[in-house]
Amino acid sequence: MRIIRAKDYDKLSKKAASIIASQVILNPESVLGLATGSTPIGTYRELVRMYNEGIISFKDIITFNLDEYYGLDKGDKQSYSYFMYDKLFNYIDISKNNINIPNGKTDDIQRECHGYENKIKKSGGIDLQLLGIGKNGHIGFNEPDLKFEALTHLVKLDKETIDSNSRFFSSIEEVPKMAISMGIKTIMHSKKIILLASGEEKGKVIYEMIYGKITPKLPASVLQLHPDVTVIVDKEAGYML
Ligand code: PGA
Repeated sequence: MRIIRAKDYDKLSKKAASIIASQVILNPESVLGLATGSTPIGTYRELVRMYNEGIISFKDIITFNLDEYYGLDKGDKQSYSYFMYDKLFNYIDISKNNINIPNGKTDDIQRECHGYENKIKKSGGIDLQLLGIGKNGHIGFNEPDLKFEALTHLVKLDKETIDSNSRFFSSIEEVPKMAISMGIKTIMHSKKIILLASGEEKGKVIYEMIYGKITPKLPASVLQLHPDVTVIVDKEAGYML
């Protein structure tokens, strides 16, 4: 694992965006895996800036998001689909047909999950996957478990995840209890991975992810086995390294 310590959140965002931008410039038909949450917001802001300055184009880029809340429509303001349009897609030249996010309103989970996996495969696989990390070590919505869940699947969210995500909702009751998420194998098949962590509350999990035992109880620890992972932390998230 390559570890980059950024001075602050702004520098972290700039570094992550520059890695994504170089991928897009080197291969304008790249397949990008994208993440939601508060951590990548600055990265998306930087990518929009670079697009506006004519440095990068997303015209032929294909994207796959890691996850979506189960039960939320893509137009719902709390959905991850809405988040992605609001933070990135509305401001760049990506083709709508090239945007892939699990359908949280599907009436056939099996079909949705298989279909998502097949679409990733058909696109040639993910060239660069962006990840955040939960305080409990989740990546995507792969929560701590007794085994690594391989492929895209329906997940029951952890209490800690529901508590943490309640900051985006007006009450904790409104937070969906389930989600559709890429699996660990889906993520591990990405050719390159960047994982971002900001803030002191991520310090301990980042340390354990890098130096601890590889265990499904801390799903991100599996990244120790991936040949091309770059972890970017700000000063606070890197305080134990
Ligand atoms: P955060 O979420 O960026 O809002 O901290 C990360 C995650 O849960 O994966």
